Amino acid sequence: MRRIVITGVGRGLGRALAQRWAERDEVWGTTRTGTTDLPLAGCLCIDLADEGSIVAGAAALRASVPGVDLLVNCAGVDARAFGAPEDPRGPFDVPAHMWKALFDVNVVGPMVFTRELLPLLRNGSQPLVVNVSSQLGSMQVAATKGRDTSYCVSKAALNMFSVKAAAELRPAGVGVVMLHPGWVQTDMGGRSAPLTIAESADAIVATVDALTLADSGRFIRWDGTDHPW
Ligand SMILES: NC(=O)c1ccc[n+]([C@@H]2O[C@H](COP(=O)([O-])OP(=O)(O)OC[C@H]3O[C@@H](n4cnc5c(N)ncnc54)[C@H](OP(=O)(O)O)[C@@H]3O)[C@@H](O)[C@H]2O)c1
Repeated sequence: MRRIVITGVGRGLGRALAQRWAERDEVWGTTRTGTTDLPLAGCLCIDLADEGSIVAGAAALRASVPGVDLLVNCAGVDARAFGAPEDPRGPFDVPAHMWKALFDVNVVGPMVFTRELLPLLRNGSQPLVVNVSSQLGSMQVAATKGRDTSYCVSKAALNMFSVKAAAELRPAGVGVVMLHPGWVQTDMGGRSAPLTIAESADAIVATVDALTLADSGRFIRWDGTDHPW
């Protein structure tokens, strides 16, 4: 049984991943309320835009468990979360304060949470960090796809952070991968997305369960295939 930490288990992909892994592993989730109706080992109260809440939540986990085997940084937003309209969200449409708020949640928050869990990850068995990225963080894909430039840039930044963290943590035996979950029918993905939450989550669990340190630094899709940069 592994000990797994997943951010954003209140809804969407984070919730579906927590449900699946909790059937056989010890899962700790995070929500902004600190509560969940899922049968998890625990739920931490973390707002990724608030460094203090991340530090406090991670300290509570460090006081409760000796190690973590898998961290899934799943929670994420696009500019609509801060009031941006559906359209337009091009390079110059989203106001600066929304860009900054988006970066706090999608880039800075995962960096701080990973940093604060490093002592636990170093004590884990075959420890791995999965940063849920997006195809829209790919230079090749985002050249022609992706309405929300601020979101695309934030996922590209998360990828760069992940590449640097993978190099930094490899000597300690901690792997870091970036994972595009597919275009999925969540609140973010919308109803016209081709993948159901169950299809994406089932594939992600199978893919992540098979990853090793040798995969560190890869940018992969939900099905484990390599994603273009
Ligand atoms: N759906 C897709 O098609 C798709 C495609 C590519 C990548 N992704 C990525 O997949 C991940 C999961 O997305 P999803 O589709 O499941 O989205 P979702 O259904 O909109 O859920 C977003 C999650 O992020 C949490 N969250 C939002 N702001 C937060 C904050 N400040 N602090 C902590 N948690 C916060 C939400 O919690 P609350 O309930 O508290 O708001 C919720 O759990 C994201 O990183 C997203 O970028 C999704």
